[in-house]
Amino acid sequence: MIIAPSILTADFCEIGNLVDQAIDAGINWIHLDIMDGNWVVNKTITFGPAIINSIRKRVGDEITLDCHLMITNAEDTWDQFANAGVDLIIVHIEAVDNMDLLIENITNAGKKCGIVFNPDTPVDQVLPYLDRIDLVLVMSVVPGKGGQSFMPEVEHKIRTLREHIDLQREESGKDVKIMIDGGIKAHNISLVKEWGVDISVVGSGLINEKGTIKENLNEIQDALAN
Ligand code: DX5
Ligand code: ZN
Repeated sequence: MIIAPSILTADFCEIGNLVDQAIDAGINWIHLDIMDGNWVVNKTITFGPAIINSIRKRVGDEITLDCHLMITNAEDTWDQFANAGVDLIIVHIEAVDNMDLLIENITNAGKKCGIVFNPDTPVDQVLPYLDRIDLVLVMSVVPGKGGQSFMPEVEHKIRTLREHIDLQREESGKDVKIMIDGGIKAHNISLVKEWGVDISVVGSGLINEKGTIKENLNEIQDALAN
């Protein structure tokens, strides 16, 4: 299981120090939550390509950066995130009109492409794209802010994706990673691993008042090991 910290609940003046700490603790993937003040229900604005570019310069080329685009016009602006240095661009199925074209554009630009879908969107909508994408992200909270409660009802979506992806890998060799995002903590990470998740985004479970990133990560890794 890969743990991908979300910096959404961080003190943004401390981002550089926090990514340093995460990498020192053994993290090799960082999840960047982009909200444009329009698409998410609570109209949050987070940060954009300039900050991402600074993070890329800070972490070097060995760390995987993904951007989770919770924005209305991903079809027009995805390339700004590609140019800022992310490896993987994750777009919401609910927010994109021509997903076929967007996947093609992102992959032709040499970037990996992921599709994400909300808790109330059926998994069937994502299945037709599994032969063309690198990752599928299952939202286990309604996107908009960190620190929300995990929605266990996403279990069937993950199990369905696991079955389809395993079958596809056997038939064609094409693998797709399953990522989960929202409310993942030490107490539920083993559960989602058992369902078939490959990568867990962890925001408030890693960056909080309770402990350092290293202490919180150790707690999560202990939970996974037991
Ligand atoms: C929600 C974001 C998540 C989230 C993760 O809109 O996509 O990445 O902030 O934070 P926690 O782990 O606190 O739910
Ligand atoms: Zn996210």
